[in-house]
Amino acid sequence: MAEVDGERLTDEAIYSFLRLLLPAGAETTYRSSGNLLYLLLTHSDQLEAVRSDRSLLPQAIEEALRFEPPLLSINRTTTCEVEIGGVTLAAGESISPSIGSANHDETRWENPEVFDIFRTPIPHIAFAHGPHMCLGMHLARLETRALVNRVLDRLPGLALNPGDTDPHIRGQVFRSPTALPVTFTAAA
Ligand code: HEM
Repeated sequence: MAEVDGERLTDEAIYSFLRLLLPAGAETTYRSSGNLLYLLLTHSDQLEAVRSDRSLLPQAIEEALRFEPPLLSINRTTTCEVEIGGVTLAAGESISPSIGSANHDETRWENPEVFDIFRTPIPHIAFAHGPHMCLGMHLARLETRALVNRVLDRLPGLALNPGDTDPHIRGQVFRSPTALPVTFTAAA
C-alpha cells in the first residue's frame, strides 16, 4: 500500500473516497454533457459554429457549465460571522450556496440569462471554489471534449427531433435533460 511521509490511508478512508468518486465522476459528467448538447441543439447557429471550428469547443463547454451547471448547490459551514446579500450569518451556520445562481450573477456577467459561447470567458463556479474545488474538473473537460467531438464527427446533421416532446433541462439538485430525441443523417 502507498505510503507518503510515513502515512498510509486506512481502508475506511479508501472506501469512503471510492464511494465519493463514483457519483462525483459519473452523475456530473453525463449531465453536463447532456446540458451542453441540449444548449447547442437549441442554439443551432452556435452548434454549427462548433461543428465547423472545433477550437470553439472548450469555450462552449465552459459556457454550458456556467449557464446550466449539472450540480446546483454545495454545503459549507461559516467559520466566522459574515454578511451575505444583507443577511448576517453567525459562525458555525450550515449554508447551501447556490452555484446555479452565482453562475448567473448579473454583477459579474453581462446578459447572464443568454447562452453565448462567444462571450469573453471568466471563471464560473460550476466546480465550486476553495480547498475542495472539484478534483476531477480537468478529466471532466477532457471527457466532454472527446464525447462532443465524436458525436459531431459521427452524426452529421444532428438536430432535435421536431416531432418529439419538447425536451428540457430539469432538476433542483442535479440538472440535465431526461432525454434528447435527435435526428441525424447517415454517414456516407
Ligand atoms: C462537469 C463535471 C463535474 C462537475 C460540475 C463537478 C462539480 C463538483 C463540485 C461542485 C465539487 C465541490 C463540492 C464541494 O465543494 O462541496 C466537486 C468535488 C469533487 N469532484 Fe467533481 N465535478 C465534476 C466531475 C468530476 C469528475 C469527472 C471527478 C472524478 C472522476 C470528480 C471528482 C470530484 C471529487 C473527488 C470531489 C471532492 C473534492 C474534495 O472534496 O476535495 N468530479 N465536483
